[in-house]
Amino acid sequence: MWSFTLISLALLLAKVSAASVARTVAAGEVCEGQVTLSEYYIGQDKNVKVQHATCPEYGSKVETLESRQVDVCGNACNTSCFTPSGGGPVPNDCHVIADALRFDSQNIGALFPVSTGTNNTVVMQFATCLSFFVNQDSGPIEYCRTDWASLIDFIAPNCQATQNAHGGLCVATNQQWFAQVNHA
Ligand SMILES: *[C@@H]1O[C@H](CO)[C@@H](O)[C@H](O)[C@H]1NC(C)=O
Ligand SMILES: *[C@@H]1O[C@H](CO)[C@@H](O)[C@H](O)[C@H]1NC(C)=O
Repeated sequence: MWSFTLISLALLLAKVSAASVARTVAAGEVCEGQVTLSEYYIGQDKNVKVQHATCPEYGSKVETLESRQVDVCGNACNTSCFTPSGGGPVPNDCHVIADALRFDSQNIGALFPVSTGTNNTVVMQFATCLSFFVNQDSGPIEYCRTDWASLIDFIAPNCQATQNAHGGLCVATNQQWFAQVNHA
């Protein structure tokens, strides 16, 4: 299943120009008008910073009629790298975030909830690497920590200078969520 997911990601690997995702985002933020609700550290060494945040520019791209939490583990997503090369995160730093997610998967639980509305974004950071997950559904969803870890370990090394890139993102094929990896 993982190999299928990763193969389909690789086949869909595309390039998006920085212009198409250009935003006026303040330093240390992942979206325009970000409001940080809480901050703590996770992982075996408690060195990966987690923030729950509001990203007002995203959300409600998909209308789900269900009010219960929808499990989106294993859903296919479409990876795009940000061009041009230069200024990408160090893949080993991203791998520390992925390992912290795997550690939490074993010690806390396989799933993590992502609310909607004012609490639609989860941000993780270690050293040069920043990854964030956004719920674009009108209702709450839950995703697998190991899935996010796999996406980070795929995007970080595959959207680097050698690919004329500096990070990237994977958007659920139904637009319900996306996960991004870029320089902190
Ligand atoms: C935001 O959502 C997370 C779960 O994703 C929850 O643990 C946290 O308490 C929420 N924060 C607020 C301010 O609602
Ligand atoms: C994947 O993303 C690329 C670039 O944004 C887009 O051209 C393509 O249509 C997308 N494919 C799917 C299956 O969503």
